[in-house]
Order: sequence, then C-alpha cells, then structure tokens
Amino acid sequence: MQLTSLVALALAAPANALIRFSCSQLVVDRIDPLVTPGMAPSPHLHQIIGGNSINATMDPAKDMPGESTCTTCQFTEDTSNYWTAVLFFRARNGTFKRVPIRPNAGFDGAVGGMTVYYMQNGLADYQQRSKVTAFKPGFRMLIGDALARTEEEASKYRQVTYTCLQDMSTRYPETKSLPNKPCPAGIMANIRFPTCWDGTNLDTVDHMSHMAYPATGTFDSKGPCPDTHPVPVPQLMYETIWDTRAFNDPNEWPEDGSQPFVWSMGDHTGFASHGDYLFGWKGDALQRTMDTPCYVTCPTLTTQSIANQNKCTAERTIQEDIDSWLPEIPGGPTISKKYLLEARGTRSKGGL
Ligand SMILES: *[C@@H]1O[C@H](CO)[C@@H](O)[C@H](O)[C@H]1NC(C)=O
Ligand SMILES: *[C@@H]1O[C@H](CO)[C@@H](O)[C@H](O)[C@H]1NC(C)=O
Repeated sequence: MQLTSLVALALAAPANALIRFSCSQLVVDRIDPLVTPGMAPSPHLHQIIGGNSINATMDPAKDMPGESTCTTCQFTEDTSNYWTAVLFFRARNGTFKRVPIRPNAGFDGAVGGMTVYYMQNGLADYQQRSKVTAFKPGFRMLIGDALARTEEEASKYRQVTYTCLQDMSTRYPETKSLPNKPCPAGIMANIRFPTCWDGTNLDTVDHMSHMAYPATGTFDSKGPCPDTHPVPVPQLMYETIWDTRAFNDPNEWPEDGSQPFVWSMGDHTGFASHGDYLFGWKGDALQRTMDTPCYVTCPTLTTQSIANQNKCTAERTIQEDIDSWLPEIPGGPTISKKYLLEARGTRSKGGL
C-alpha cells in the first residue's frame, strides 16, 4: 500500500462509534406500554423487538427492560424495547393480510424484526467525531403520530420516511407517504428520532417534548442543539423492511390507482408511521460503546448468533388472529374514508 493511502486511512479512523445491528421479532401484540400502559388490548397492533420482559404495563419505576432474561438483539447487553406499527395488505375483496418482514442485507436468517442504529453523526460520516451522551435507565420516547393522515401533520417528524426498494441496496429517494407503486424488493420504513435531550426528563406526558431537533440545520449537517434541549444524544434509527413481494401484482392493487398497504392503526397514507423506544442497555454498555472508535462492528459488545436472537420470544398478551386473511385489522381501526366508501359495495358488516 502507498504511504499516502496509509496516512489517509489513519486520518479517517473513527473517533467514536456508530453501531448498526439486527434485532429479530420478539412478539407481535396489541400492547403499547409507552402510550397506553396497562391497556390490553391497546388500540393497534405493534411489532416489538428487544428484551423479553415486555408487558402491557412496563412500570417506569421498575427498569423493566433490565429484568429481561434474553434479547432478540444481536448485542446481549441491549435489552431495550423498540416497536413500530404493523403493515397490512388490503386485497380487492376488502380483506387484510399482515405483511411479513425480511431481514436487511447482512442479517440473513433473522426472523422479522428491524435493523437498529445508534450514531453520533450521519451514517455516511465514517469518523463519527461528535460526542454524545447515552440515554439513561428509565429513558423513553416516541416519534411520529399514529393519528396523522396528512403531509402537514407528518411534517413535524422530519425523518420518518419510506424507501421503495428496487433491490436490497436502494437507499434513495425517501418519501413521507407510502410508495404509490410496487416496490420490487419491499418497502423500508425508516424511523429516526430527534437527537437533542433536555438533560432532565426521562420521559414526558407526550413522550416527545423532552426531545428536540437541532436548532439550525439537521442532525446530518451537525446542527447545534437548542438551549432548551442542550444535550446531544445518539441518533437512534430503525429500519424495517416490509416484504411486499407477494403483494406486488398490479391486478391485485386497487382499481383507482391508489396503493394497497395500510398500517395497523388504519392509515393508508403512510403519514402515521411511528416508533417507540424504552431504553434498556445494561450498565454503561451504551456509553462505553459510543465512546469507542469503531464503525458498525464494535468489539466492545457481546454478539450472539442470529439463531440465538431468534430463540428469544415473548408470549402474546392478546390472543387474536393476526395471520389469516382478515375481515378487519385487529382492533378494527377506522380505515381512511376512501376505503370506507369502496368497501361499502363489497362488504355487509355494520359500520362499513
Ligand atoms: C408486568 O411485569 C411486571 C414485572 O415483572 C409485573 O409486576 C406486572 O404485573 C406485569 N404487568 C402485566 C400487566 O402483566
Ligand atoms: C380475498 O383476496 C385474497 C387475495 O386475492 C384471497 O387470498 C382471499 O382468499 C380472498 N378472500 C375472500 C373471502 O374472498
């Protein structure tokens, strides 16, 4: 190797960590311990990953993630819980089928689940020079609005998007609404959380106002945190790849040219995508890792095999059919008006 390239490599070495890892599905269940604690069933279905101590209540005083005996995440130090809504396909006959999830590149064999990132600078920034403070025990947050149905309502949440995968490496463009054409390799839902913390509150009533976006610019442009939320924390990002390949036949898509996918809260626009987070790293494992110069593969952590991740599961609290072609989405959320009108002609059930 030329000396100049060695020097270039040394200069480019990461200053801190960016970690990217796989977590398999823990459970798909109608619980939401953050937004509707204790309510079972909760209004809509979620896919949950992470530590197996999840339940409908998750009393913040109890450090519930810490009570887990296993985790579906690759790093055994991470017993956090992460969840999102669940995507359904709506057939022309008005029935719904839950869309499966496929693993991201490099994580073959993972059953369901997501890819999780913690970063101090943008993904493309190998050096990761910014310094972040890891989340604390008891920390919780939410991003996105399950009730949003317009671009305007969704615009508050800057980085909750979709990528229409032409193949597994497609990363651009991102859209705020669900893709309006078949995506040959699936639909990737991207959820990025805000990166500035108020430094005091582990949670707030809306699970959001203890967090803020940078005061100017963006996380990727290294914009500074506002005075009200001065503490930079890692950017947490989830990628979930909904495997729409079985549902890409245009003859099965709505005749009016709209797209057929609907979130478990009844949203077919895509604007209601949201993600929830309950911190649950053991001890100082997250801070220690973030302070280590490494990119994606971080030796500070204990890595379990994907086969072992898959073995960790949790009992469902709500026993209901989530796998068949279903006459309605579990919980019977109101589907957007257009679908209500369409469905009237084909279905006799009350309300539709
Ligand atoms: C949730 O788990 C905690 C701790 O294990 C337990 O005290 C609580 O009763 C459980 N709640 C539900 C609704 O199962
Ligand atoms: C509705 O359509 C789907 C997809 O074509 C099909 O698999 C299912 O059996 C149909 N259900 C009914 C009740 O016709």
